[in-house]
Amino acid sequence: MKMKKILSIAATGVLSLSLLAACSSGSGGNEKSDADSEKAVSLRLAHNQPEDHPIHTSLMEFSKLTDENSEGNVKIEVFPNGQLGQERDVIELVKSGTLDMAKVSAGALEAFDENFTIFSLPYVFQSQEHYYNVMDNSEAVQEIFEGTRDDGFVGIGWYDSGQRSIYTTDKKVESPADMKGLKIRVQESPTSISMIEAMGGAPTPMSFGEVYTSLQQGVLNGAENNETALTNNKHGEVSKAYTYTEHQYVPDVLIISTKVLDKLSDDQLKAIQDAAKASSESHKDVWAEAVEKSIKESEEMGVTFYTIDKQAFIDAATPLHEEYKAKSEENQKFFDDFQSYIK
Ligand code: GCU
Repeated sequence: MKMKKILSIAATGVLSLSLLAACSSGSGGNEKSDADSEKAVSLRLAHNQPEDHPIHTSLMEFSKLTDENSEGNVKIEVFPNGQLGQERDVIELVKSGTLDMAKVSAGALEAFDENFTIFSLPYVFQSQEHYYNVMDNSEAVQEIFEGTRDDGFVGIGWYDSGQRSIYTTDKKVESPADMKGLKIRVQESPTSISMIEAMGGAPTPMSFGEVYTSLQQGVLNGAENNETALTNNKHGEVSKAYTYTEHQYVPDVLIISTKVLDKLSDDQLKAIQDAAKASSESHKDVWAEAVEKSIKESEEMGVTFYTIDKQAFIDAATPLHEEYKAKSEENQKFFDDFQSYIK
């Protein structure tokens, strides 16, 4: 199932004219040639988290390292807070070459390329070690990240975005039976929609920016995310019960426009790739610290964390693996590749 493709930016009214100008001044559009290849470039990178979020810290590190690696030849300006649009919007902008780069969730990318489905399959990663092993080493990940080149973008790096679990405004969830009738926000990802259905709830796909208000107004009974959503995105103000279903590790992905790739010199591209790798690595510690801090702060906000026996959720959700594998030989190949990294 492919989700309906993106609304036009004009229709969503997300971008002001000045921001559009900011977006488009980045790539220049010069043809690649020897003379041009070492021309300094300035790239715009958008993401949807606030400046105090760990991913912003690591994207700033990425920007700094790119600058250093390229000796000032590649500048990356980071636009946080969804100021250039929600995740679907910025993916569309990167595809068209209007925006150079973005950090988005692999969950949002599923609506653009079905190969991203595997990252949202519940319980596909058995542990954090397995997840890191796959993300850092797997050929399937590389194939998926590079497979969208003809669609206008590729993935050039990933960042840990933790483990996702269910949280509700009040009623604690301990088993799939408790999910009955609960409207749970999910990413605009067909797999996450099916997952919440399988777990017994009523999935409500919406963009991340709308979740706080929807929880507050009772449009939603809950959502699912990592712990930083409670603090950095303030969902803990309006959601008081967080249950460790630990159903997904959905990575954040750094995407870059094919138009930008085509005009970078080899050295410039390497500067970016090396910075992406190094900042992905240092992000693991940044992330771990942020989660610890979020748990503490959430408890101060009155959130209770429930650790449960997850087996009933695992049993409810893992039939999605069979469905996924049965869809194509390629899916089976990706799945086997991921499984081969279990130690
Ligand atoms: C995570 C992810 C974000 C994403 C969000 C969501 O926080 O890092 O990129 O927008 O989940 O649930 O939409």
